[in-house]
Amino acid sequence: MTRIVVATAYGGPDVLTVVAEDPGDPGPGQVLLEVRAAGVNPADWKSYSGAWGDDPARLPLRVGFEAAGVVRAVGPDVDGVSVGDEVIAQPARGAYADRLLVKASVLVPRPPTLDWREAGGLLLTGTTAWHAVTATHVGTGDTVLVHGASGGVGAMVVQLARMRGARVIGTASTGNHDHLTELGAQPVAHGPGLEDRVRGLSNGSVTAAIDTVGTDEALDTSVALVPDRRRVATIAGFHRGAQLRIQMLGSGPGADPGTQVRADARRRLAELAGDRRIKVHVGATFHLADAAKAHRAGMSNSLRGKIVLVP
Ligand SMILES: NC(=O)c1ccc[n+]([C@@H]2O[C@H](COP(=O)([O-])OP(=O)(O)OC[C@H]3O[C@@H](n4cnc5c(N)ncnc54)[C@H](OP(=O)(O)O)[C@@H]3O)[C@@H](O)[C@H]2O)c1
Repeated sequence: MTRIVVATAYGGPDVLTVVAEDPGDPGPGQVLLEVRAAGVNPADWKSYSGAWGDDPARLPLRVGFEAAGVVRAVGPDVDGVSVGDEVIAQPARGAYADRLLVKASVLVPRPPTLDWREAGGLLLTGTTAWHAVTATHVGTGDTVLVHGASGGVGAMVVQLARMRGARVIGTASTGNHDHLTELGAQPVAHGPGLEDRVRGLSNGSVTAAIDTVGTDEALDTSVALVPDRRRVATIAGFHRGAQLRIQMLGSGPGADPGTQVRADARRRLAELAGDRRIKVHVGATFHLADAAKAHRAGMSNSLRGKIVLVP
């Protein structure tokens, strides 16, 4: 039997519970993964909040979208993966479990220099950030405004944009400004007057903007500062984003899911993290059974860095 975290109803973290279930044997194209760490993302609590629908037929609903672990069994029609391989799996629906069936096609090798928690929290934010810097063509000579730069996706965007040779101005609460400086961004506080503060820092030369927050403040500031709306993207503010005709990235009406660009980025992101060219800042680790506590911490924005669950 394996322990898995499920939501038994739609609502807040109180609906989460741990149940025991036989994961079964891997089918064609699948492997059985012994999970060592699962990344916690806002999508996890959104998935059972009711915000994405409340069909009772989907209950109990498994939680989590990314994990790292050891391959314990390999199904038919799988090439290039063996029992004992240490891997990262993303997307991996239902990742909050101690064992998990996943498609072999979503696996990339875990670099030995990356610890399990970093590996489990790398790819959902990493692939999203990769999509964002690719879609906005960030490169040398750019000044990029990143909203939510201290968050999971934002910190990845900062690091990837810096690697591509861009200057980065990042918004964050003042308590996170030192962290942004360490990542290579120039920090700026969000809140009233944001546009003027960014103008002051950039001399009016912001060439691209990536929003990971979704507020009107972030989106309106971005279009006020960036002359070309094709170089403004949001992963979180789709309603306002559609009104402003900027790029919307991810899953949602009118958004570009970037399936191929994200899939192609996974192996490269793992290599970059393994070489310490990008870093996953793990802020807190919770036991699988404490998934509800982990979600409350994430929802309250009280911790900096990635939250990770371990079995
Ligand atoms: N479309 C996609 O493909 C996709 C993929 C991944 C995530 N997402 C979504 O993107 C969002 C961010 O995800 P994440 O994993 O980066 O979350 P996160 O780690 O919780 O980061 C969010 C950041 O937003 C900042 N923030 C909070 N309130 C703010 C405000 N009023 N103004 C400006 N900044 C504020 C916080 O930084 P400070 O405390 O420093 O202010 C926080 O670090 C979520 O809504 C998530 O669901 C979308």
